[in-house]
Amino acid sequence: MMTALRESSQKETPPEVENFSIDRTIEKYIPKRFSQDALVFILNTPRYEYNLDTLNSALTEPIWEFLNRGGKRWRPKLFLHVCKALGKDPDDYLEYAMIPEVIHNGTLMVDDVEDQSELRRGKPCTYKTYGLDVAINSGNAMYFLPLLPLIHNEKRIPSDVLVKLYDTYAQHMISLSFGQAIDISWHRGEVDLTQITENQYLQMCAYKTGTLAAMAAKMAAILSQADDTLIARLGEYAAAIGVAFQIQDDILDLTGKTFAKAKGTIGADITEGKTTLIVIHTIQKASPTDRNRLMKILRMHTTDQSLRDEAIAIMKKYAAILYAQNYAQKILKESWNAIDDLLPPSEAKKELRAFADLLVEREL
Ligand code: IPE
Ligand code: IPE
Ligand code: MG
Ligand code: MG
Ligand code: MG
Repeated sequence: MMTALRESSQKETPPEVENFSIDRTIEKYIPKRFSQDALVFILNTPRYEYNLDTLNSALTEPIWEFLNRGGKRWRPKLFLHVCKALGKDPDDYLEYAMIPEVIHNGTLMVDDVEDQSELRRGKPCTYKTYGLDVAINSGNAMYFLPLLPLIHNEKRIPSDVLVKLYDTYAQHMISLSFGQAIDISWHRGEVDLTQITENQYLQMCAYKTGTLAAMAAKMAAILSQADDTLIARLGEYAAAIGVAFQIQDDILDLTGKTFAKAKGTIGADITEGKTTLIVIHTIQKASPTDRNRLMKILRMHTTDQSLRDEAIAIMKKYAAILYAQNYAQKILKESWNAIDDLLPPSEAKKELRAFADLLVEREL
């Protein structure tokens, strides 16, 4: 049964086991090394000559080096929780559950280029080791390769269901790029920080982080034959989880509980000049001197730890981290209230809620 869901309810199951079954499913479609009989070549037969070693060194190797670094794999877990809450056996959906996860990994590889980040999952970002060209292309390939189970359609998904899946995919990929565009524009300092509202921040997060969670929940609901209203509501719930998750991620960057801590760097987001809920709240509450100082440091894109610490101290002075923590909790609670009545009572429903709570309360 369903290994991918045990983690939230039965603590004794190590998370690696969960991730292992997800990774094995990814590998079925995106092998660690392509051979001539890889599904991708069967579905789309090359007409001329091609070299497997070339494709492997410029594509599958960087992709798997990245996937093998780990990651929480929470998007496929959310996908499977939704299937289960809708009365389905999650084991039947693993190959679709990996779709948002592979896309997510692709977005991270590209995001690190956009954010000029140093580390990802405790190691130098892919563009640092493999080069910008390889990282951008591999990241982009990860937006499409996970669609192979839909293209192959071994399980004969009816065409109306397939249309809904592709429609969901396309809509959320557009949203993702909108979210990144807004975030990028903000970290470039193109928008007056004092004019960015909480609601604008929430929309940016819904686009950039909520959207893959929504894709996961909606694809799960579509495949589980939920009606259109329930599909939409579950998508909204998942998007809210994504927003709360992003708020927590931004908190962890400042409290130093991320991988970065191991390297002695806290506040990589300050170097990026990232506009977070914590920053927005501080800007709104701070004295003119503190506000101007924080904005100045954010515009420096500095790696100087003492300046980053100074910025963090200003944000703490206005209790902005606590504010963001409470905000994330509020989003989680309100979003659950919106779907509570729509799902029939079950163990799976309780597991779904516990999973979302754990995800947002995470410390790493
Ligand atoms: C990182 O996502 C990017 C954000 C949305 C904050 P995750 O924290 O889910 O990344 P991994 O996959 O676990 O590394
Ligand atoms: C995460 O962006 C969202 C996407 C990659 C689409 P961030 O830039 O906020 O994530 P981290 O902090 O680098 O993980
Ligand atoms: Mg980033
Ligand atoms: Mg980013
Ligand atoms: Mg972060």
